[in-house]
Amino acid sequence: MNTTVFQHRRLHLFQAMADNSVALIASGKELIRNRDTHYPFRPQSDFYFLTGFNEPDAVLMLSKTADGYKSHLWCRAKDKEKEIWDGYRLGVDAAPEALGLDSATDVVQLNNELVTALADKSVVYFSFEQGELWLSSVMSVVQQLKRRVRLGVSAPQTINDLDPLLHEQRLIKDSAAQAGLRQAAQVTVAGHMAAMQAAKSAKVEYHLQAALEAAFKQQGASHQAFNTIVASGENACVLHYNENNAPLQSSNLVLIDAGAEIDGYAGDCTHTFPLSGRFSAEQAAIYNLVLAAQQAALALIQPGTPYDAPHQAAVRVICQGLIELGLLTDTLENAIESGSYKAFYMHQTGHWLGNDVHDVGQYKVNGQWRLLKAGMALTVEPGIYISPDNQQVEARWRGIGVRIEDSVLVTETGYECLTAGLPRTVEEIEAWMQQH
Ligand code: GLY
Ligand code: MN
Ligand code: MN
Repeated sequence: MNTTVFQHRRLHLFQAMADNSVALIASGKELIRNRDTHYPFRPQSDFYFLTGFNEPDAVLMLSKTADGYKSHLWCRAKDKEKEIWDGYRLGVDAAPEALGLDSATDVVQLNNELVTALADKSVVYFSFEQGELWLSSVMSVVQQLKRRVRLGVSAPQTINDLDPLLHEQRLIKDSAAQAGLRQAAQVTVAGHMAAMQAAKSAKVEYHLQAALEAAFKQQGASHQAFNTIVASGENACVLHYNENNAPLQSSNLVLIDAGAEIDGYAGDCTHTFPLSGRFSAEQAAIYNLVLAAQQAALALIQPGTPYDAPHQAAVRVICQGLIELGLLTDTLENAIESGSYKAFYMHQTGHWLGNDVHDVGQYKVNGQWRLLKAGMALTVEPGIYISPDNQQVEARWRGIGVRIEDSVLVTETGYECLTAGLPRTVEEIEAWMQQH
């Protein structure tokens, strides 16, 4: 492994930490799915971002003192018997060189060794998102240290949330992160193409999922960044639909929201297309409106734009279009002000993207939407969902759900569309499906 990227990231975090402080970052534990069967393990993103190490039961400690910066890892010890059953472990001896760290010890020593590690430090950082994991063990160590006060030992006085430091760092993608996101996005696009290709023969939603995820794996992504959504017909109106088991009907649209994960980076892209290869008039009208909203939002992606502005632009286009189609009886300004459009468009237009699909980083700073900056990555994903139960609209509109989602990287002059390459207009989609 090339450890330079991770060493550089740790250095960046060290520089942001207080003097005489320690940061603790855990990889996480394996989770049981049922009885003795586990979910596939995937380390917590903060840990992976700083180490590139993907074993469970590991803890990184960054220690900043007058003597300098030290990176220590607690990890699982080598164990022949366990490795025969459950797989390879890096082990304590190999970890420092393999990961570019100063030292490593057996994770079974964690609680004992933390007492020495936290002695005479002023500040301890951990993620408050993992407060329940750390609070009691750190407090127990602090109490043990306080009992040694007559030996001249001092205990930390401050516990700080690590998230503001580390997550601001993760928000601006370094060049390795940009390359990872680019690759994950392109594999994601290949998966969507494979699903479109499979539409002719697929009988059930999960047949499309199989084609998409097979393409992910063939292109080098062993995992999905999140559970694939394949929602045909009115299932598209369920935003996080995951069942993917409905029989396909050729008169329906299908909405596929999926992302390949490569090297710990998430793809995130939604494509909506007609299973028959031809949009009905109503499906095309809704699709065109969502596409116009997405284009209005994308046009604003550049440094200096407030985070919320693309969403406001998409909402305005959607409201205007819904009124013109007779789906919303309201004035434009009143629809925006009252939020009456939320019967059709109830989510935001995007989110940060990175190691996590809904990536970390604040959206507002001092109560103001933050300004986009080169190196930020986000999605742009407006949608319209007409509930099958909506009695306010004519029956011909009910059950249509469309979302169009791209992942973008903010550049110095605008943005790079990471998920470029899919046919996106009605004409392009119909032509593509005729040809394939
Ligand atoms: N796939 C989850 C999202 O688009 O936010
Ligand atoms: Mn998304
Ligand atoms: Mn998505």
